Amino acid sequence: MSQILPTLGLPLALGLCLPLSAWGFEYFQPLPKAVQQPADNPASAEKISLGKKLFFDPALLGTNSTLSCNSCHKLSTGGVDGKTVSQGQRGRYTYRSTPTLWNIGFQTVLYWDGRSRSLEEQTLDHLRDPVISDNTHIGAMVQRLMDTEDYRQAFEVDFPGEDAVSADNVARALASFERSLLTPDSPFDRYIRGDEDAVSEQAKRGMRLFNDSGCASCHFGVNFAGPAPGPAMGHGDGFYELFPNYLGSRYDKQYGLADDLGRFEATGNLWEKYMWRVPMLRNIAVTAPYFHNGRVKMLDEAVRVMAKTQLGKELSDGEVRDIVAFLQSLTGKMSLPAERGAGSPE
Ligand code: HEC
Ligand code: HEC
Repeated sequence: MSQILPTLGLPLALGLCLPLSAWGFEYFQPLPKAVQQPADNPASAEKISLGKKLFFDPALLGTNSTLSCNSCHKLSTGGVDGKTVSQGQRGRYTYRSTPTLWNIGFQTVLYWDGRSRSLEEQTLDHLRDPVISDNTHIGAMVQRLMDTEDYRQAFEVDFPGEDAVSADNVARALASFERSLLTPDSPFDRYIRGDEDAVSEQAKRGMRLFNDSGCASCHFGVNFAGPAPGPAMGHGDGFYELFPNYLGSRYDKQYGLADDLGRFEATGNLWEKYMWRVPMLRNIAVTAPYFHNGRVKMLDEAVRVMAKTQLGKELSDGEVRDIVAFLQSLTGKMSLPAERGAGSPE
């Protein structure tokens, strides 16, 4: 789509975010107050609370598991564990770097390569993955939850019916919890809503440069990751781009950028070699390391890599600093949904 959308000079004066009404989205948008809920799994306070309990509970991932969802997607540290790739069950490593789950409900597809179409589907996929889950099979996990009085009762309240405790309902509860993970009130959000002083002059320069140099042709919308679910793209429709777009820069070798074939590895389609989902940039300053392989440790370097590999540009140190200042303004408030009796995040 970066080819379809012309590079638009973004008027940064207040109230002038470009309404691209034909597409049903705006280039720069404040974080909405809530995520659209799927018709077959609307959230409730109880479901969110159950999902939260499951998220922090190592017992979900195996009898002797020391890992919970939160071990890799550590919500108190930006939603990531800070590792290049994460250590999973029995010393095995994940194939790609762990992404943050804050604001994940605004994504139309999941995973770096977008191979999963919904949070519910993604959870079931994870639960069958031996790196993530140490359950011998998914039935063993369900049986264990059924044998735990608190869980059984909570599932029966949230999912009345015969098979209240099921893998599908584990996925539904976790997905509801994940859709509640929002980071409102970043300096950027306050600025775009009208508070001129919410961001520094440097961040404003960086915002302008982010737009004028072409970053925003891929990173736009609620999460700076392309269209959020809505008229332009529904759930399951991914917004993909080539990475590296300009193959052959020094960074390819330095950071192994061309070692992973991206969507091609999931779909086998030749035209999807090196295609990746455009990832979100909210909270990017606190979710190092960067890229699907987690090989780039610092945000300024990630910006240089992007300029070179995606736009064929070398940025000056000052320009990089300005863009980093803008990206830092995208860090919002990370607080968990109100809970009923559950412990606070580690
Ligand atoms: C051992 C580390 C690890 C654990 C434990 C783990 N995950 Fe993940 N998770 C990952 C990695 C790595 C990815 C990215 C995989 C990819 O893109 O190929 C991921 C991706 C995801 C995504 C998609 C994120 C995106 O940007 O599209 C969601 C949602 C998610 N995990 C939720 C969970 C939930 C819920 C649990 C607990 C059931 C969990 N994860 C447990 C490592 C982990
Ligand atoms: C042609 C589309 C495109 C353009 C233009 C582009 N990006 Fe990206 N960006 C991507 C894709 C695709 C990825 C994911 C790469 C991967 O899979 O590791 C990405 C990743 C990133 C990341 C790392 C995200 C993470 O979670 O690790 C940052 C930071 C970033 N871009 C910033 C920028 C900046 C700043 C610019 C302008 C200098 C820019 N991007 C221009 C498509 C683009």
